[in-house]
Amino acid sequence: MTKRQVRDQLDRPLRDIRISVIDRCNFRCQYCMPAELFGPDFAFLPRSELLTYEEIHRLATLFIKLGVEKIRLTGGEPLLRKDLPVLIKMLSNIDGLRDIALTTNGVYLPKYAKELREAGLKRVNISLDSLNDELFGTINGRNVGVGPVLKGIEAAKEAGLGIKINMVVKKGLNDTEIIPMAAFCKERGLELRYIEFMDVGSTNGWKMDDVVTKKQIYEMLKNEFELETVEPAYYGEVAKRYRYKDTNVDVGFITSVSESFCSTCTRARLSANGQVFTCLFNGNGHDIKEFMRSGVSDEDLENRIKDIWGQRSDRYSDERTEETRKARKKIEMSYIGG
Ligand code: GTP
Ligand code: 5AD
Ligand code: SF4
Ligand code: SF4
Repeated sequence: MTKRQVRDQLDRPLRDIRISVIDRCNFRCQYCMPAELFGPDFAFLPRSELLTYEEIHRLATLFIKLGVEKIRLTGGEPLLRKDLPVLIKMLSNIDGLRDIALTTNGVYLPKYAKELREAGLKRVNISLDSLNDELFGTINGRNVGVGPVLKGIEAAKEAGLGIKINMVVKKGLNDTEIIPMAAFCKERGLELRYIEFMDVGSTNGWKMDDVVTKKQIYEMLKNEFELETVEPAYYGEVAKRYRYKDTNVDVGFITSVSESFCSTCTRARLSANGQVFTCLFNGNGHDIKEFMRSGVSDEDLENRIKDIWGQRSDRYSDERTEETRKARKKIEMSYIGG
């Protein structure tokens, strides 16, 4: 396939698309969908608002034509969307795609891992913030212990999927788990990424004081392990990686707060109801669903995507201050999938 490379206002190419397939989740993580706010009466998207698999496939094909090489499926919890392997199969057959991955809380992996792998999925990033059942149950807001996630990790391994573990670190909540999680993942050959707690959306009560920075975590790790720097695997890689000496196990940091990585941000996001977001911290997306449903041609759609990317100048993490943070209306993490 011949690709047309599009560049944004800051000369960044379009390389990745993160597609949220559903805004619902079986967890209520405090930092993402606090249970007090996402209660039984919360109005999630109705089914008719969700993009169909055919619509997602059509858009993904056009995004790939415009330079996208990697698709990540997200939610909410993407495995709550019915027949997800069907979508994976449709997407993985698109010419020009290099990587297809999924971000999940892992609970449904024992049920679906094998099917997902057979459909063409390559990797999963599994969220796990603590190894302590009680603490993990408090963080996920559903009193689910660590066991179901560990079973999910096991199932992903057995299915032959690549695995990374995501741990969001919040001061005073799970910083005591930093070293235990490192030891656990190192021993099992799993790449762990520490994620700085981010000010996404407006419901998670974010404060700068709650952030444990990469530097602080790195200092803690250095007291326990010998680490070597690893060069980025590709342009715009989100995590900064290190390797435990004399092993092939990496550990990474996602430093949106302390060391922003906007200058190489190549990611577009597509919400479950068909809005394109050019930054995780945007308030409004560009509605592409209604445009598509009005019966336009592929060429019209492609031009629309090109325009959206061409006009992009977002660099929220570069510009984050108390003022910019308060002034901005931001979309919720569960809606846009991180
Ligand atoms: P890999 O393809 O395995 O490198 O995945 P990834 O790290 O891009 O994806 P994942 O869904 O595991 O995201 C890990 C964390 O990085 C989440 O908290 C995301 O919200 C965050 N993240 C990913 N992309 C961006 C981004 O462009 N900006 C910011 N600020 N955070 C991001
Ligand atoms: N800050 C940082 N990471 C977050 N995630 C969800 N909410 C936040 C937040 N406020 C993480 C999840 C998942 C990934 C997609 O984003 O734990 O691993
Ligand atoms: Fe669900 Fe993931 Fe958000 Fe937790 S972080 S509530 S698992 S979408
Ligand atoms: Fe990209 Fe926005 Fe994240 Fe910066 S803050 S890396 S522009 S998504």
